[in-house]
Amino acid sequence: MRRFALPGAVLLALGGCTGGVQGKPGAAGLRDGLFPKLGNGGYDVEHYSLALDYDPARHHLTGSVTLTARATRDLSAFNLDFTGMDVTSATVGGERADADRAGDELTLRPADEIEKGAEFRTTVAYSGTPKTVTDQDDSHEGWLRTADGALALGEPAGSMAWFPSNNHPSDKATYDIKITVPRELKAVSNGELKSAVTAGGRTTFTWHTGEPMASYLATVVIGAYDVKESKTPSGLPVYTAVEAKLDSAAKKETADVVGRLPEIVEWAKENFGPYPFSSTGVIIAPEGSAEYALETQNRPVVPADQLTTETLAHELAHQWFGDSVTPKRWKDMWLNEGFATYAEWLWSEDHDGKSAQAHFDEAYAKPDDDNVWAFPPAEPPSAAVISDEPVYQRGAMVVHQIRRAVGDDTFYDIVRGWTKEHRHANASTEDFTRFVEEESGKDLTDLWDTWLYGDGKPKSP
Ligand code: TRP
Ligand code: ZN
Repeated sequence: MRRFALPGAVLLALGGCTGGVQGKPGAAGLRDGLFPKLGNGGYDVEHYSLALDYDPARHHLTGSVTLTARATRDLSAFNLDFTGMDVTSATVGGERADADRAGDELTLRPADEIEKGAEFRTTVAYSGTPKTVTDQDDSHEGWLRTADGALALGEPAGSMAWFPSNNHPSDKATYDIKITVPRELKAVSNGELKSAVTAGGRTTFTWHTGEPMASYLATVVIGAYDVKESKTPSGLPVYTAVEAKLDSAAKKETADVVGRLPEIVEWAKENFGPYPFSSTGVIIAPEGSAEYALETQNRPVVPADQLTTETLAHELAHQWFGDSVTPKRWKDMWLNEGFATYAEWLWSEDHDGKSAQAHFDEAYAKPDDDNVWAFPPAEPPSAAVISDEPVYQRGAMVVHQIRRAVGDDTFYDIVRGWTKEHRHANASTEDFTRFVEEESGKDLTDLWDTWLYGDGKPKSP
């Protein structure tokens, strides 16, 4: 006699009667005002373990990611952000899970539902040619090819081009990233290099990031690089990788700027507080390989043609502002760029004699119709303008206004207090304005209304 097979829905209902979980699918986005589809609801990632194998000749990436995550509600299914390539297998808790793709969403439906509060592991294997992502402002990120390799940049969305993740800055996690490449190449990433093992003509580089990292700050850079390891005067490990094929003039200029990295880090510590991570460095990518530098955690990526001491100071300042204290939502990005730009002003004040006030005056002198006044720094009207002047220049002007309102001593206490209070965590604009008022004991409503939230050029500097 054949046993009667119950349809899945009935089995789920029975599960409910016997005290099992009654999950619903997790949300496909975190309702970020500017990027509603980024991130996913229903879980928090604690750790990503990535194994990647790249063949530059074929532009082919084979990857596998294992996420350790905690369910924040009963889940029948959950999403990851992922674009391009093919998913070849997916498991949850070691058991096969159904995988569905729609747009940039990968939906995994485990055989058994996940209970609220439970820690679970999911592994996704994938392969193919990773994509370059075009942002709403027409800039390019995600997977960028170079003559002999590639680099991966993820702000704001591009990480989903090379690994499935909960791709929103509010969900930070630790990472292990393992990358196998042809033996004549290097693979550089975040955190610390644990091993480099060559076998059968290929080298596997194993990188470990033990401090929480937002997915947009993860990177891998593959190619022929000159690597140097050293320590800053205070003993922080430095790992620098410079694109090997620069002509001799560019090589010298690059070496001069990169050589100042330990000094810049020590200078930034004086101003911003203890360095937030267990190593530092920089990756100088081939000329023209990316349109921007990016503050990838531990070691920023800077295309060789964009390297200046100010750019390096900017990207290293991001280690405090953005990488350690990370925005809760993308509209809070002025907290990254305003401070990183202000760091350039401070660097120049301390080294070239042009004061932060002079930088401010120069920016303020721009006419009413200049792009710097196009919108208030804390209210970017769309995803297409998050990297525009108001976020950077006017963001720095907000920081300068605070300094003028509270005086230098209180200003530096606030800056160091802020990086301490939210170290390795997330913070919003409201968290910041509240913090500044509490620490200074001043009501700064007018300053916020005028500089942070006000439309157009403020009437007086
Ligand atoms: N946030 C980067 C910086 O200030 C610049 C940037 C803007 C960027 N959009 C990007 C980097 C897209 C990479 C991809 O240093
Ligand atoms: Zn920046």
